[in-house]
Amino acid sequence: MSCKAKSIISGKVNKAIYLLPLTCLLLACGGPSADNKAKQATEANKVESLSNDKYVKDVHSFADPEKVAVSHISLDMDVDFEQKMIDGIASHTLIRNGESTEAIFDINDLLIDKVTLDGAAETKYEIKKGNEFGDALHVSIEKETKTVNIHYKTMPGSKAVQWLDPVQTSGKRHPFLFTQGQAILTRTWIPCQDSPGIRVTYDAKVKVPRDLMAVMSASNPTEKSMDGAYSFKMEQAIPPYLIALAIGDLEFRKLGPSTGVYAEPDMIEKGAYELEDMQKMVSAAEGLYGAYRWDQYDVIFLPPSFPFGGMENPRLTFATPTILAGDKSLTSLIAHELAHSWSGNLVTNATWDDFWLNEGFTVYFEYRIMEEVYGKDYTNMIKSIGAQDLKETVKHIGHNHADTHLKLDLERRDPDEGMTDIAYEKGHMFLEMLENTYGRKDFDAFLKGYFNRFAFKNMTTDRFLAYLDAELISKHDKEVNIDEWVFGPGLPDNCPKIVSDRFAKVDDVMSQWRAGKLATSEFNSDKWSTHEWLRFIRGIPSDLGLEKMAELDKAFGFSESKNSEILGVWFIKAVENEYEDAFPAMEEFLVNVGRRKFLTPIYTALIKDGKFVDVANAIYDKARPNYHSVSTGTMDKLLRN
Ligand code: BES
Ligand code: ZN
Repeated sequence: MSCKAKSIISGKVNKAIYLLPLTCLLLACGGPSADNKAKQATEANKVESLSNDKYVKDVHSFADPEKVAVSHISLDMDVDFEQKMIDGIASHTLIRNGESTEAIFDINDLLIDKVTLDGAAETKYEIKKGNEFGDALHVSIEKETKTVNIHYKTMPGSKAVQWLDPVQTSGKRHPFLFTQGQAILTRTWIPCQDSPGIRVTYDAKVKVPRDLMAVMSASNPTEKSMDGAYSFKMEQAIPPYLIALAIGDLEFRKLGPSTGVYAEPDMIEKGAYELEDMQKMVSAAEGLYGAYRWDQYDVIFLPPSFPFGGMENPRLTFATPTILAGDKSLTSLIAHELAHSWSGNLVTNATWDDFWLNEGFTVYFEYRIMEEVYGKDYTNMIKSIGAQDLKETVKHIGHNHADTHLKLDLERRDPDEGMTDIAYEKGHMFLEMLENTYGRKDFDAFLKGYFNRFAFKNMTTDRFLAYLDAELISKHDKEVNIDEWVFGPGLPDNCPKIVSDRFAKVDDVMSQWRAGKLATSEFNSDKWSTHEWLRFIRGIPSDLGLEKMAELDKAFGFSESKNSEILGVWFIKAVENEYEDAFPAMEEFLVNVGRRKFLTPIYTALIKDGKFVDVANAIYDKARPNYHSVSTGTMDKLLRN
């Protein structure tokens, strides 16, 4: 056996070296397997001791959970659509360590009416001005205090909440509301200790107008109540960013024994069809990495202004209706949000600097679910698109930039800035590299063990690396450049190469057509999936020219596509090629859809080189009232600075 102390696994200085006791390093240098066992035992202790520091310093929260932490939140909320206001009481059950005289909560743009302790005695509180990400609410507590009850109101501009008028919904008859907590927006609708390293169970009483249904990331109703009163329970401990609420004219449709879908009545049929394979996805996921721990898995289709594709609120994924393509071609997004039921919701990034532990693992898991349900060929297309995005992102951020590290440093920055393809796709590539190195069988056993071992706990990058070392790397005889991947920039040389044969054929069609050797009628594209079309459109150069753009549009009707992903990439190419025939359809898309992933690249293309700045601004003026704060935040920076 060769000597491979893991301190030199990357060929560079291992940042994790300080975690390794000297004996462990010595023991790692060859010797009989008993020594190896001793080493593994030491590694295991190290992981154990690391996981005992339960709370981790989070620069994005004012809470001090080492002293006073919250273990349960009881919510009592009245939702007033007229005034666009939630009038609430958040009762926090405390865990106390020592005799602290205050409990600290995060708030942002909330009106605090009063704070009481246990029974009802009012107590003093002080709001200490924080920063653009929120303020600290310091509440005086007594020696025996068990519960802090915060009486509060949200402001109409609460960043988490979007209040939609009936015209912004599918049915056009009833208003709608949804919340978005991740990353640090829960504090704009619930005063709480808003750090992903803190876990709470919760229950809620919510009062809404009589003809509406309320649903949460909790046990949910399947029918409207008579009086607009609903109660909820989330009995598994979750980080506060996963507390979520949606209210609207909703209907429920059961899909399988433990799955279902919520949507406005006129969308429920379409939604149910699109998610027909969802129960299969749950089974595939369980087969890979162990039991689904949240009992029920439902999806709610929100109005198109929802700023994300999906949000993994436990038991109830919030989803954009833009995946309703009518052919199930965009449902990998559901595999992604479902995968978060393990990576993210069960084992949670301790701080937003460790965001890759949520998203990178989830993308890896998403692809594995897709492979189980739809096969390797199909999944390779989706992976290949991810790999293409990753390359562009690294180029855009800069190969040597610290923002291309997996482990981030987001101090004084909006955690949103860490939400790039680095966490998602570089994170996935890192895990796929580990799979390739140690074999699928061992890697799967490792991951399954990881989710089990750290279920309902938070996870830091260092803690994960220690566990990886103890449970996978040290059991094999292979070097691997962990540090370069996690703490280094760009893409290491051993980044897996994704090859898609189906895409190779598409690329061939594109080059033959461009060389004038193939007419659009000879593409043989009848059996192309959405992904092949996406590959094709992505391959359109920015100087294709008007005539050829029109030829494509005429042959394949891209501007009229019912598929949002196809529209998303086609409009970028239309702008680059100044193909203004597509602009009316583009305007309609941008006004109707608030999903940031589509908005950012289209508006960016419009303002590039000052080409269509006026067009961009005119559309944005019209569209802005329809967007959620997450999207206006990004678009304002892009268009209004
Ligand atoms: N949890 C994320 C969404 C998110 C991340 C919200 C950070 C706020 C801050 C969700 O799981 C996600 O990644 N959604 C993606 C879809 C996915 C298929 C990559 C999206 O919305 O585009
Ligand atoms: Zn995700």
